[in-house]
Amino acid sequence: MLDVKDLRVNYGKVAAVQGISLSVTAGEIVAVIGANGAGKSSTLNAVAGIIRPTAGSILFNGEAMTGHAAHRYIQRGIVQVPEGRMIFRTLTVLENLQLGAYRLGSFVHGHASPDDVLQQFPMLADRLHEPASNLSGGQAQMLAVARGLMAKPSLLLLDEPTLGLSPIAAEDVFRLISTLRNEGLTILIVEQNVRRTLALADRGYVVEGGRIVLHGSAENLIKDDRLVAGYLGVKADRLRKSVQ
Ligand SMILES: Nc1ncnc2c1ncn2[C@@H]1O[C@H](COP(=O)(O)OP(=O)(O)OP(=O)(O)O)[C@@H](O)[C@H]1O
Ligand SMILES: [Mg+2]
Repeated sequence: MLDVKDLRVNYGKVAAVQGISLSVTAGEIVAVIGANGAGKSSTLNAVAGIIRPTAGSILFNGEAMTGHAAHRYIQRGIVQVPEGRMIFRTLTVLENLQLGAYRLGSFVHGHASPDDVLQQFPMLADRLHEPASNLSGGQAQMLAVARGLMAKPSLLLLDEPTLGLSPIAAEDVFRLISTLRNEGLTILIVEQNVRRTLALADRGYVVEGGRIVLHGSAENLIKDDRLVAGYLGVKADRLRKSVQ
């Protein structure tokens, strides 16, 4: 479904992504793991068409995507739920949701209706007319995902969906991801909760300094000494503490 080859992203002199290749097959959950600043968000933003890569190719269902405007990516079915959720706090829950069906002042072709999407999100359905600022962190993340689903994606990109959430709220998000996959959505996810994410994912890529240093099935990665030492040990605990 998605084939990324030798992706490079530079910000001026900063080479954030230095030749990343990865693929995602329809129906998979694929995890991208790595420390702060490794280049995970830059990779996802390039796949979403939000930033223009310096080099490399992005094929989606066989179509070359690089060079197209961001709305073309959405129209083709690639939708990103950004890091930090990006909910408009002064708008209502419903208004935030409706924004997911618009790009550049027009409707995304074939978008979903709020009623369709809300079936998965009863806690949001009860609060449609409240300002989004009333929502807890977990509910705001649910709204961010729900807004993404309004564009009827086939590939959903999730950037740190559980960052800053309580363990209970994070578990709700992981359960939602599982449900979405069972309903046929393909998911590329960046997550700092490595163990929980690999329990859910089919495959994973580990990024360091803008390059992939390790990849494989989730099952093998979770047992890999290099991953255990780098991301499931002290460092990962420190990372988790820093966001709680
Ligand atoms: N807009 C930008 N301008 C300049 N440098 C940037 C910009 N965005 C990211 N960077 C730099 O690029 C590198 C990769 O950043 P990126 O956000 O992709 O990493 P990340 O793996 O998502 O990190 P985090 O875990 O903190 O979200 C970092 O060194 C970062 O400081
Ligand atoms: Mg990031």
